[in-house]
Amino acid sequence: MAMREEIGRIFDLPVPMIWKVVEAFHLDMDKGLAGEESSLKMIPTYVGMPTGGEKGDFIALDLGGTNFRVLKLTLKGGRKALEPVIMKFALEKKQITGTAEIFFDFIADSVGAFLEKNNLTGKDRLNLGFTFSFPIRQTGISSGILMCWTKGFETTGVVGNDVVKLMNEAFARKRIDNVKISALVNDTVGTLIAKSYEDPDCDAGVIIGTGTNACYPEELTRIKKWPALSGKKGRMIINIEWGNFDKLISTSYDRQLDEASDNPGQQILEKMVSGMYLGEVARMVLSDMSSKKEFACVSMPGLFTKGGFGTEYMSDVEADVTRGLDGVGDILKKLGCSQSSKEDRGLFKDICGIVSCRAARISAACIAAIVTRMDPQLENAHTIAIDGSVFEKHPTFAANMRKALDEIFGVKASLIRPVLAKDGSGKGAAITAAITAKK
Ligand code: GLC
Repeated sequence: MAMREEIGRIFDLPVPMIWKVVEAFHLDMDKGLAGEESSLKMIPTYVGMPTGGEKGDFIALDLGGTNFRVLKLTLKGGRKALEPVIMKFALEKKQITGTAEIFFDFIADSVGAFLEKNNLTGKDRLNLGFTFSFPIRQTGISSGILMCWTKGFETTGVVGNDVVKLMNEAFARKRIDNVKISALVNDTVGTLIAKSYEDPDCDAGVIIGTGTNACYPEELTRIKKWPALSGKKGRMIINIEWGNFDKLISTSYDRQLDEASDNPGQQILEKMVSGMYLGEVARMVLSDMSSKKEFACVSMPGLFTKGGFGTEYMSDVEADVTRGLDGVGDILKKLGCSQSSKEDRGLFKDICGIVSCRAARISAACIAAIVTRMDPQLENAHTIAIDGSVFEKHPTFAANMRKALDEIFGVKASLIRPVLAKDGSGKGAAITAAITAKK
């Protein structure tokens, strides 16, 4: 059992350590905003906050993983919107590993199918908000260059190029001529905009899903890498790209995972927090424990293969509260271990819990950093709009995040309200198109 305790210890993030993370996060935020070498890219987005008065019909294309969506949103003004009309599509391996042309043509075809189904083909010009959830160096509200792929994407010919230009070229090839991409946004930005359209207290957008990241509105005078803004009043949303934050204490399991990944040295926080990696971290711990004879389910083939244990299993394991952990036993069976003792089931559940709890506490630490950046004494209410499968579906993640915030801020913690902002990234892109169209 000693090893189980040791694992608990190395994955723990107690409050004093959280404050160190907050401090290091603030330093990297400053460096990123000053244009200095930093693990936080701090990307200016050219987008301010909505007023809630935006009106009209807008289209959005929401792409940030293998599933993507096209939607139409009607804004009524007065902070109200109709339920969006949505169509979902899925990218296949040939699109995420092939050429830019194959990739963007498939997306253009999907937009075409949406327009046709909703009787929008060839009609008046439609303003489209394009959510493209990868590290983009924005060069304007509707232009930006892909800095690198994340989340396993490898499509060639996109890194270093303007994704709006590539998308427009595909629209032209597919003869879609009534759509104008008027805003390019990150999913965190969409999530923030969508929530703050209805809730003026909302000032951070966070994604904890396949990938993880956050954004917040920053004072223009503090964006030092843009001298033209100095002295100007107002705020602009900054896409932090927090998934790349690298000042956390890592375990040997994290380092192993990073080395075996397709982007070693990058997205270090993402590899400890997001759905793409959590199952893999747990698998690494369990496979090490089984080699040290602490975990007896050695007949699981997935235990010793990269990607052999998906993060979705973690939710099921941790949701099992039966006495005999029968659900955990069933999952172990599915994974190839037909006979499991109660002890093994318990250990399996504990390890999943340790890994996901660390992820929740890291996210809370970074949210604490964002909030104290905007409001050092924590005097105002902050709604934190969060979307993503891990936050939404994992059975203990949201509660562990809340608990960590309570530990960090004590009685003042109630001023911070993390809320699920489902499908905000698409809606927010449409609202951003509206903000831009108004200008
Ligand atoms: C990755 C991307 C980032 C995105 C996040 C959540 O970290 O680099 O842009 O916001 O995933 O989808």
